[in-house]
Amino acid sequence: MKILFIGDIVGNPGRAATTQFLQAHQDKYDFIVANGENAAGGKGLTFEIVDQLLASGVSAITTGNHVWDNKEIFNFIETTPQLIRPANYPTEVTGRGVTIVSSDDGQTQLGVINLAGQLFMNSYTNPFHALDAILPEIKAVTPYILLDFHAEATSEKIAMGWHADGRVSAVVGTHTHVPTADARVLPQGTAYITDVGMTGPYDSVIGVRTDLVLERFLTMMPSRFTVAKDNVKLCGAEIELDDATGMAVNIVPLQHQY
Ligand SMILES: [Fe+2]
Ligand SMILES: [Fe+2]
Repeated sequence: MKILFIGDIVGNPGRAATTQFLQAHQDKYDFIVANGENAAGGKGLTFEIVDQLLASGVSAITTGNHVWDNKEIFNFIETTPQLIRPANYPTEVTGRGVTIVSSDDGQTQLGVINLAGQLFMNSYTNPFHALDAILPEIKAVTPYILLDFHAEATSEKIAMGWHADGRVSAVVGTHTHVPTADARVLPQGTAYITDVGMTGPYDSVIGVRTDLVLERFLTMMPSRFTVAKDNVKLCGAEIELDDATGMAVNIVPLQHQY
């Protein structure tokens, strides 16, 4: 079983790279999961973009702290089961933090969990306890489980990898938009990477036009951020799972230049 995970899709350049990549390579994967928190001009998601991503072969869309940036999402998050937000929001918050999606032939299910970190982030509830609470319901359905851990601090992400080792198929990190060089299969069989990196323009500051970010750092004044254009890469990870156990056999970081 082969899963493709695509890192934070940033704006139009990120969406174009995703569509192009999937047109050519979609057939290689049993499941494709993408983080879409920055897909609409860097801020959130629209219905049309969610629709396009699902039509291009994506089975589930994860998000993060930018999930609510485009208010349109409140119109469709409840009715779009493939779209999830961090599970460690207070229970009354709209949407869901877990989804179970089926393969095209309906024979295989993949559980997808989205959690956000607590360090240098908004106030979320404890993601470690959240994972413990979520796992039994998914494990009752499928051994194939992917966790997108959307967090800033490397330490918190690595700790989550160890906490989840042997209990989920893969822990993939998102949010920093910078790929890390630490992809590995942990001793109990969980594929892990601290951050897969963004899918978007790398001649930028994590996706935003460099001149605008520099202006903010130099003047300390607020400025409007716009998505950059150049040096676009699709970044993610290919994860191979053992069909019998659901544990990972291999994880290979993917960086495709456009
Ligand atoms: Fe992001
Ligand atoms: Fe984020």
